[in-house]
Amino acid sequence: MPAITSKSPGKSILFGEHAVVYGFPAIAVPVNSVQLKLTLLGAPDQPQGSIRLRNRETGEDALLSDLDETHPLNTALRVLASELKIDHFPAALLDISSTIPIASGLGSSAALAVALVRGLSQYTGFKLSDQRVNDLAYELEKVQHGTPSGIDNSVIAFNKPIYYVKGQPVEFLSFEKPLTLVIADTGIRSFTREVVAEVRARREKEPQVVPSLLFRIGDVALAAKDKLVHTDLSAVGSLMNENHQLLQSLGVSCEELDTLVNAALQAGALGAKLCGSGKGGNMVALAQPESVEVVRAALLKAGAKRALTAEVQ
Ligand code: PMV
Repeated sequence: MPAITSKSPGKSILFGEHAVVYGFPAIAVPVNSVQLKLTLLGAPDQPQGSIRLRNRETGEDALLSDLDETHPLNTALRVLASELKIDHFPAALLDISSTIPIASGLGSSAALAVALVRGLSQYTGFKLSDQRVNDLAYELEKVQHGTPSGIDNSVIAFNKPIYYVKGQPVEFLSFEKPLTLVIADTGIRSFTREVVAEVRARREKEPQVVPSLLFRIGDVALAAKDKLVHTDLSAVGSLMNENHQLLQSLGVSCEELDTLVNAALQAGALGAKLCGSGKGGNMVALAQPESVEVVRAALLKAGAKRALTAEVQ
């Protein structure tokens, strides 16, 4: 059997993280300058069902039988077995390599979920639509994250900018002109499940404060939709700044993220905010194409462990 390759991009949430978990709108874009690549190689000399996983990023090299029940590969095989009625998988070697940093707000777990669903289904003879890949990847995300909104798997499965409201069909966005983004990493890993749980606990403890912050974040995302489509960059930038302030009030920023956001703005970015669950991970800045390198250099100088650029349309 020829090798099968399945690639997923990273993603950045431009508006609405956290609020999207509670049904408010959010906007996310794929980031193709980072990527997860899964290669499936047949292992005809191995017994049926013998599956080996090699992950070049995490250093993991294990047989399926040694992996935890909740490992994404185990979950993927369970979901595919029940949804596609696949009762046995041919022996295989799964090789994963990725430039999407783990636990950093760029969608590494959703990228893996999408690549596993797409790769394994193709390996067993199914050609699933992007919608079906997305639906099944969401099932994997639920096992990994508890209560994911579904925005990460959606933007990655379709590899297009999306306007997303939980439980509603995904709306694709296309921008009149490309957006130039600079995405910088604090180098601090942060786990979505934990940060989402903290926000939930705060929402219960502070019913006068947190629900209204989430509502306002949703309003910012709604206002940003039209500005993005018409590429009104200065309006988009201001809304990103407003979104970051609301996320600060929600308690999900941190000193390192705020430092990078301020450095980007001082270097001429039109707007900047944390992206993803926060408390570490990455921030995203909107730049004029001509000032990208200045913003990128300022972010590295301010302590970013890595700063990449992305063009999205
Ligand atoms: O940090 P990430 O890439 O897992 O993004 C999480 C986005 C949240 O809105 C915080 C959670 C969700 O499920 O939408």
